[in-house]
Amino acid sequence: MKVCVFPDAHSAAKGAAVCITDLIRGGSIRVLGLATGRSPIEVYRYITEQVTAKKLNLSELESFNLDEYIGLRAQDPSSFHSYMQNRLFSYAKLRKTHFLRGDVRNLLSECHRYEREIARAGGIDLQLLGIGRNGHIGFNEPGSAHDSRTRPVMLSTETRTANQPDFPVGQAVPKQALTMGIGTILEARKIVLLATGVAKSLALRDALHGPTSRDCPASALQRHRDLTVFVDREAASLLDTK
Ligand code: F6R
Repeated sequence: MKVCVFPDAHSAAKGAAVCITDLIRGGSIRVLGLATGRSPIEVYRYITEQVTAKKLNLSELESFNLDEYIGLRAQDPSSFHSYMQNRLFSYAKLRKTHFLRGDVRNLLSECHRYEREIARAGGIDLQLLGIGRNGHIGFNEPGSAHDSRTRPVMLSTETRTANQPDFPVGQAVPKQALTMGIGTILEARKIVLLATGVAKSLALRDALHGPTSRDCPASALQRHRDLTVFVDREAASLLDTK
């Protein structure tokens, strides 16, 4: 595991973005796993700038997003599909972008379809992750098995509260979501985790230094062979960075 500490959130995100774009340019990434949320916004901004300036080409890449709310149509402004469209895909054309669909009748077969699509693509070369304050990765909340696969999950009150600002006033955050499992995530060949702000410091400490336990889903990442963590000083404040 490599931990890179930056003075502030902006430079941590830029560090992650430069790492990802260098790997893409180097030709070792064909399939990207992508996250949503506030953490990667600057990463997508940097990638978009590089693509617009014709310094980066994503047209040979495929992507898989980590998760989606159950009950939201792809076009819903609060869906993760819309988030990706607005922040990356309307500026940078990829060969294929894959999403879980939270508006289908048969959610289990949707999850199986996603696992098959990931396998058909040859697996994920690089997975970008954020971390929840309760240690979740994707929407794998505390209690999730570390070998879990893509599946429907219940969201914790804490996660729903944290994500409420992404929804219009009067619209509640859905109670359930589809998420790649922790086992699915761990199969990515490389993982880049980005965490900024003091609110993530406890989760990060438990994830990187705590026992590997279902109580902290992100602690499963300790088992990964190629994990790079990009953090700002605040998020790293409880880490032993010696
Ligand atoms: C998003 C996702 C989540 C977020 C996490 C942190 O696709 O899977 O695990 O990465 O909730 O969210 P932010 O970055 O908004 O703090």
